[in-house]
Amino acid sequence: MTALREFVLQDLFKFNRIVFDPLTEVYPLLYFYNKILEFPLLAEVAVAPDGQMMGFLIGSRQVDGADRVGDGKDLDLNNNHGHVCTLSINHDYRCLGLGTHLMKRFNNRLELKQDLFVDLFVRSRNVNAIRLYKSLGYVIYQKLPCFYGDDDGYDMRLPLSRDVERRCLQNQEYLMGILFLLLRLPRKYLISLWHALLKLLTKKLF
Ligand SMILES: CC(C)(COP(=O)(O)OP(=O)(O)OC[C@H]1O[C@@H](n2cnc3c(N)ncnc32)[C@H](O)[C@@H]1OP(=O)(O)O)[C@@H](O)C(=O)NCCC(=O)NCCS
Repeated sequence: MTALREFVLQDLFKFNRIVFDPLTEVYPLLYFYNKILEFPLLAEVAVAPDGQMMGFLIGSRQVDGADRVGDGKDLDLNNNHGHVCTLSINHDYRCLGLGTHLMKRFNNRLELKQDLFVDLFVRSRNVNAIRLYKSLGYVIYQKLPCFYGDDDGYDMRLPLSRDVERRCLQNQEYLMGILFLLLRLPRKYLISLWHALLKLLTKKLF
């Protein structure tokens, strides 16, 4: 049987076995400490009957505007969203659906807050985690070259119910559109565009 409860500060002294994993990002204790204190309801731990930690998820939120304004109309104006800071499951308890369960509970909490989307960063070689996120509807929003120093990263996003138009993914689509148009331009126009850009940059820099 698995019990789920809030992640408390004392858990930081028990989670070494889980975080010392090559694909789990290890941050300074102070980072976790601050997140847990600021967003206690977004940090959850799964515990086995013998008290062993099975896995945990620590998340946070970025709040641009008021959570809920008046009749809700102003919700359109904010980009409030959640962020998965760390998700890690103990080796002994992987592939049992625990990672999926913790992620779904996290996403549901942000749905209740009427957030626009959830995002996270993942190593490009972490195929199992990427598969898990994709199975939940996450989309690769952008590639982040050398984000982890030794590895590229992906910024993945999940639009929540409020984001009917999938606004949180539009930036990327917009950029892809520009890139697509640029690639279709005849070569001579591309070269003059490049020269104009260089001129502009040198003017600004010197
Ligand atoms: C990635 C991780 C969180 C997955 O947790 P989990 O509890 O084992 O995942 P689940 O059992 O919920 O699996 C969900 C889906 O993810 C994918 N997946 C997860 N582990 C997998 C594996 N070892 N091999 C293949 N697919 C895997 C599958 O698509 C799976 O769905 P399926 O069971 O229907 O095939 C876990 O392996 C882990 O803690 N890894 C190390 C830390 C890490 O990478 N964290 C994420 C950093 S962003």
